Amino acid sequence: MDEIKKESEKRKITAVVLAAGSGSRMQSAEKKQFMDLCGTPVVIHSLMAFEKNKNIDNVVVVTAKEDVHRMLLLSLRYNLRKVKNIAEGGDMRFKSVYSGLKTVSGDTNYVLIHDGARPLITQELIDRCCEYVSIFKACVAAVPVTDTIKIADDKMFIKETVDRSRLWAVQTPQAFSYSLIMKAYNRLYDTIREYNSDPSRITDDAMIVENMGDCRVHFVPGDYSNIKITTKEDMVTAAAFIKNREGL
Ligand code: CTP
Ligand code: MG
Repeated sequence: MDEIKKESEKRKITAVVLAAGSGSRMQSAEKKQFMDLCGTPVVIHSLMAFEKNKNIDNVVVVTAKEDVHRMLLLSLRYNLRKVKNIAEGGDMRFKSVYSGLKTVSGDTNYVLIHDGARPLITQELIDRCCEYVSIFKACVAAVPVTDTIKIADDKMFIKETVDRSRLWAVQTPQAFSYSLIMKAYNRLYDTIREYNSDPSRITDDAMIVENMGDCRVHFVPGDYSNIKITTKEDMVTAAAFIKNREGL
């Protein structure tokens, strides 16, 4: 028990929060991560959750170049003391992640990569990710799929129905040993350079570790309320969850 405690005392965990997307599916003037959600910008909800969590030592935020300054002002305004770096993102999610990862301080043992567009992240889920990552080295929050999922042919006829009992919907945080995820990303960049391969199918970080094959990725029980804000409807749902949590 003492050893476990010592281990948790010396490990350093950094959260990398992504907010460099353009939010094209939201079709709004303001980028979704800066839209107002119950009086606070969406990404600030995410950042405040990591600020509050005792397992998290540092936070790196990734934004578009034109948003670095306003992110700095926001982090001062909301007193986000753990925000150590604001990195410039890229035109695809994995590029933003890599940019953020490269600014993480070298003494970090684990990183939690989180979509800034998931403002409903709970303390319990952050705690679970920190616990699982120290055991498994690579893990992602996910929930069992509740819809029936079917595969279509190219004419929109059903081809087959997938066995739902083994399907999980993947969320963030995605948590990794820092050295493992850096190795995976460095290798990915080498592959893209060498083979000129198409990275457009990369939709999450786990895929990069899965493809590298050095470590299997474990699921962490996620949370059905940990939704990703994608469309206007999601803003309504997120506001309802927040009001419900606040007992309003
Ligand atoms: N993200 C990022 N850099 C990118 C693309 C996405 O940092 N080049 C971030 C987003 O800001 C978001 C998270 O990754 O917090 C998940 O991406 P997604 O929901 O797809 O956001 P957008 O790409 O901004 O939205 P859309 O796909 O509708 O354009
Ligand atoms: Mg996107």
